[in-house]
Amino acid sequence: MTSITDQPREASHCKTASVAVLSAPANAQMAINSDQDIVLARQKGRALATGIGFASGDATLIATAISELARNIVSYARKGQIILRMVNNLNRQGILVVATDEGPGISDIPQALQAGFSTSGSLGLGLPGVRRLMDEFEITSQPGRGTTVAVKKWDGQLQRLSPTETANRQRQPPPNNVPL
Ligand SMILES: Nc1ncnc2c1ncn2[C@@H]1O[C@H](COP(=O)(O)OP(=O)(O)O)[C@@H](O)[C@H]1O
Ligand SMILES: [Mg+2]
Repeated sequence: MTSITDQPREASHCKTASVAVLSAPANAQMAINSDQDIVLARQKGRALATGIGFASGDATLIATAISELARNIVSYARKGQIILRMVNNLNRQGILVVATDEGPGISDIPQALQAGFSTSGSLGLGLPGVRRLMDEFEITSQPGRGTTVAVKKWDGQLQRLSPTETANRQRQPPPNNVPL
């Protein structure tokens, strides 16, 4: 098994624990089997990001990252799942996206992360694009077993919503998240 983990870009604000650690309930867990699931995951990600307080432009970037990861699941593994979760650290909120599948895996991760590398004749910008768009990036893969990509983006506005506002936006109580 091989993996690549980026250090958080703002190390003073972020603990460096693995972004794949999931100790609290997910805000959304979606099976990804089809083009329609990709669209739904994208929409759900955008809605959750907006609910957390991300500006519209950032929510669009997050939605784009989610659709690239979902697209890779459908293209290379046929099926898998995406989990979206709101996360907190000391002074900001963010979103965690975990894409997992039990597909063929990736034998050469550094190569797969190079812009322009593709085994399917497409643009090969998906993984490097996701890496660039998000603040934290971790990929783990085992050939023949599957692939997990876990990414986080922190709200760059430093504009914490009040719990009431967060609850209003999400139309549900804010989840009781454990900081990573
Ligand atoms: N979930 C996955 N399972 C297996 N291989 C994958 C997966 N995601 C990406 N890859 C491999 O990494 C390569 C690069 O992915 P990506 O950057 O999204 O470019 P593209 O999808 O355009 O080829 C893919 O061509 C594929 O070989
Ligand atoms: Mg791709």
